[in-house]
Amino acid sequence: MYYEQIVEAKDFICSKTTLRPQIAIILGSGLSALAEDIEDKMVIPYKEIPNFPLSTVEGHAGNLVIGKLNGKEIICMQGRFHYYEGYSMQQVTFPVRVMQLLGVNTLIVTNAAGGVNKTFATGDIMLITDHISRMPNPLVGRNDERLGTRFPSMSEVYDRGLISCAENIAKQENITIKKGVYVGNTGPSFETKAEYIMFRTLGISAVGMSTVPEVIVAAHAGMKVLGFSVISNVFNEDIEEEPSHIEVLQNVEKANSNLVKILKGVLEDIA
Ligand code: HPA
Repeated sequence: MYYEQIVEAKDFICSKTTLRPQIAIILGSGLSALAEDIEDKMVIPYKEIPNFPLSTVEGHAGNLVIGKLNGKEIICMQGRFHYYEGYSMQQVTFPVRVMQLLGVNTLIVTNAAGGVNKTFATGDIMLITDHISRMPNPLVGRNDERLGTRFPSMSEVYDRGLISCAENIAKQENITIKKGVYVGNTGPSFETKAEYIMFRTLGISAVGMSTVPEVIVAAHAGMKVLGFSVISNVFNEDIEEEPSHIEVLQNVEKANSNLVKILKGVLEDIA
């Protein structure tokens, strides 16, 4: 049973640390460095946690890191699970369920994404204001009322208070921050030109292969969500340039220090 598997993973984590963080951060491709700044930390490799899937993608470490950052207890995923790796949506979102039972009430998600907004440049950081899902919904199947309601609202998934908090920190730190809608595709192929153009026409700013499943489950779990996309490549139909996984990782690393500053500021401000 799914619920019992979640409980088993939660109990294992509780046996490893006395910390009970209420804030979780999922670090996406090329963004795992933040976890190195965490103090008094307990690092638990995913492979040790009962029922946890294993990360298979290059650039994604596979650890749960629990500790303190800027005085706040946090639980951090260094690397996430993607649908394109062949996991079911229940596996992809399993860690979020474990966080839910651990008592997490705020989830911060990060990812690398392709920019389709013409004003974006590589290395830009975008606050996700909303998303469009082009993936199977992780809530399909029998609903377990212990985890959430059958028909959860998705009308305001990304918390407005947290968005304005992040904007304020960025301003104080002199970091330009963009805002926009993220579309979650299954991947693993990048988009065709026609698809990038379609997304731009629809008013979408960033395109990626993750985040949406975890955010849907977090919303189902009643968590507040804050999301960041780091723009790793920008689509421009006038330039013959193809996105590559290497380029994605390199461009994301350039933006990493700014993202870390914003994340630390947000953590300080969260009550
Ligand atoms: N498309 C989809 N996912 C991505 C991209 C992209 O262009 N860049 C980084 N992740």
